[in-house]
Amino acid sequence: MNPVVTPLHPLFVAKITEVDLSGPIHETTQRAIERAMDEYAVCVLPGQHLEDEELIAFSRLYGPLEVSTDIARKSRAAGRNLRIAYREIFDISNLDENGSIRGEQDGRSAILQSTQLWHTDLAFRQGAAKWSVLHAKVIPPAGGDTEFADTRAAYDALPDAMKRRLEGLTAEHSLWHSTAQRGGYVPTEEERGSYPPARHKLVRRHPGSGRNALYIASYASHIVGMPAEEGQALLAELIEFATQPQFVYRHQWQVGDLVIWDNRCTMHRATPFAATDHVRDMRRTTIIDRAPDALVG
Ligand code: SIN
Repeated sequence: MNPVVTPLHPLFVAKITEVDLSGPIHETTQRAIERAMDEYAVCVLPGQHLEDEELIAFSRLYGPLEVSTDIARKSRAAGRNLRIAYREIFDISNLDENGSIRGEQDGRSAILQSTQLWHTDLAFRQGAAKWSVLHAKVIPPAGGDTEFADTRAAYDALPDAMKRRLEGLTAEHSLWHSTAQRGGYVPTEEERGSYPPARHKLVRRHPGSGRNALYIASYASHIVGMPAEEGQALLAELIEFATQPQFVYRHQWQVGDLVIWDNRCTMHRATPFAATDHVRDMRRTTIIDRAPDALVG
């Protein structure tokens, strides 16, 4: 089987078919996916009915995986996130450890709510994310789509004066800045200590394509060395610019869809659904960026 790559959007995003990821993956397939990711940044692979072990094995082909810490699995914000046996898999569901739908007051809602803000995964970590791989096990009858924004195309479209203004600027990102915006979650001292803020350049060169990309997210609290209000206004302006309809693709999930995105040149956000009535069971692995410093443009 030779993978077939079909563009889904004028600027980015492709569908890859004629691929079966359950079982040994031929190097030709592995490289074809890598090439498509470098070009399109978001790839949709429909009809992949994978066990957790297969999702992990596929993801590991592209680098080391983020492993959730004890604090992330047991914190008040996470609720007790022990439904899935593997620490390499992030439970992006509305289910508790017994498989029942979580109530509105559940502590995990702050984290889930914050995925509805535009973000790029793990930007609050110094060794942030290269790719994320999200697998749909159960989807709700309506809603719960995921939107993606192309921050390479957004950078290209910025006026030259703005490109000059962004040169050399660094933003500080914090997980708690994002959770405070949605749900108002106040972390314990231990939680705060285990996820300290991280700093990243606002414009970085995407290694796969050699193109510059905006590196922005709702985790970004301020711009280093700039008055807080001015930095926040600039961050808000950039997020608004980069998420205009022409830069956005909305994915409507089918069970078995596997969507891979490159966090270094896209943002994404979950969209609402009736979370206390219907199950949405999505599982994510996150491939760590092994060379974040090399990305600084
Ligand atoms: C995520 O932000 O990683 C998950 C997005 C989603 O649930 O659609």
